[in-house]
Amino acid sequence: MTTSTFEIDDKFKYLNGFNGYHQSEAAEGAIPSVINIPQKSKYGLYTERISGSSFTVPRKDSKQTWLYRLLPSTCHEEFSLIENHPFNLNQASDSKYQYSPSQSTWAPVRIAKEADFITGLQLIGGAGNPTLKEGLAYYVFTAGKSMPPNQAFYSADGDFLLAPQKGSLDLLTEMGYLRVRANEICVVPRGIRFHVSLPTGPVRGFALELFEGHFELPELGPIGSTGLANIRDFEIPTASYDNSDVDMDIIAKFAGQLHGTIHRGSIFNVVGWQGTYYPYKYDLGKFNTIGSVSYDHPDPSIFTVLTCPSSIPGEAVVDVAVFGPRWLVMEKSYRPPYFHRNTMSEFAFLIKGGFDVTPLPPQLEGLFSLSNTMCAHGADPESWKQATEKVLQPQKIPPGNLGVMFESRYIIGLTKGANNTLMKLPGKSAAFGEFERAKI
Ligand SMILES: [Fe+2]
Repeated sequence: MTTSTFEIDDKFKYLNGFNGYHQSEAAEGAIPSVINIPQKSKYGLYTERISGSSFTVPRKDSKQTWLYRLLPSTCHEEFSLIENHPFNLNQASDSKYQYSPSQSTWAPVRIAKEADFITGLQLIGGAGNPTLKEGLAYYVFTAGKSMPPNQAFYSADGDFLLAPQKGSLDLLTEMGYLRVRANEICVVPRGIRFHVSLPTGPVRGFALELFEGHFELPELGPIGSTGLANIRDFEIPTASYDNSDVDMDIIAKFAGQLHGTIHRGSIFNVVGWQGTYYPYKYDLGKFNTIGSVSYDHPDPSIFTVLTCPSSIPGEAVVDVAVFGPRWLVMEKSYRPPYFHRNTMSEFAFLIKGGFDVTPLPPQLEGLFSLSNTMCAHGADPESWKQATEKVLQPQKIPPGNLGVMFESRYIIGLTKGANNTLMKLPGKSAAFGEFERAKI
């Protein structure tokens, strides 16, 4: 697979690259030349800046974008807590997370046809605290309808990575449009307003909210200068503005809860922008998978698409890894994931097919699991027997198969909803008594 097969074409125009400077204007001259903050802007546009990093971080980490817009984003009423919003009613604060050393696997979540992206966003669990800008949160989302046309959302708590598993999302952001389909991921950084509509009907997917830092591409080390996710394959929106003067509801996720206000006219009124802070998307089918061509099962870090480093070298706040089509050719080796317990927690979900050579039944597409810190996991007895007895030949994990994993240095707590409301599947690795004892 070199690109994914999608249910719908992408009609939007993009810039290409990752973590560099870009600019885009929807009207000629909207971006001033040389002077960032001209005394008088063309068309009378207002100059505004959004900072995704503090001003004094190392230059390579600086995330700053200048926006040239029809009205400044200050044109809104006071925010107030939306007390009866399903998100606020259902979310547990970090102190209410429940912790278990056991592995959990959940059945695909039923799509709530009556929900939109915001009302259908369910917190599964996480770690840390957005007010300290430490930690992260994992969500599942389902929706059967678009967000109301005059509504926009942003998170002041962190960057949102979205991975639709079924269906497609059209995101209108302050920097322009993104179409994100199953098999693609997108990142909307902290603070950037966006609206989600559904061009192909109901959707289900997963989201990661990163309270600290930003995503980077992993270092390639001895792999060299190409491989894994290539810089050119990340797509960035082009400027597109809405001249509507119909007031807009803005929903802000702030310190874990949703607050609302009314903004004068559309918030999507940016005619031009330039800088290093913007949303982007990536087709996971373009991932250049590297693997073992001799023996042994390589560490899953080889599948990292994006990483958010912590202050400890090599230990990520979270890695986003993709398990896609690839050849398995290792000789004289046990090829599936071996039995293991890791300091890093593993939250995995199935987009399509299976994680391994054998696809799972289609009704299980969308299942997800958590193998928390030092949770023992590996093959069930039957899979282990097959893997240890079969004649080893080159095998292809079929095109279309796709799984994703969020691997984090944090112990992940679960919400009451994840533990009690969502349907869990029996753990495959709960194999007490089923394996034959080795004879010595
Ligand atoms: Fe694992």
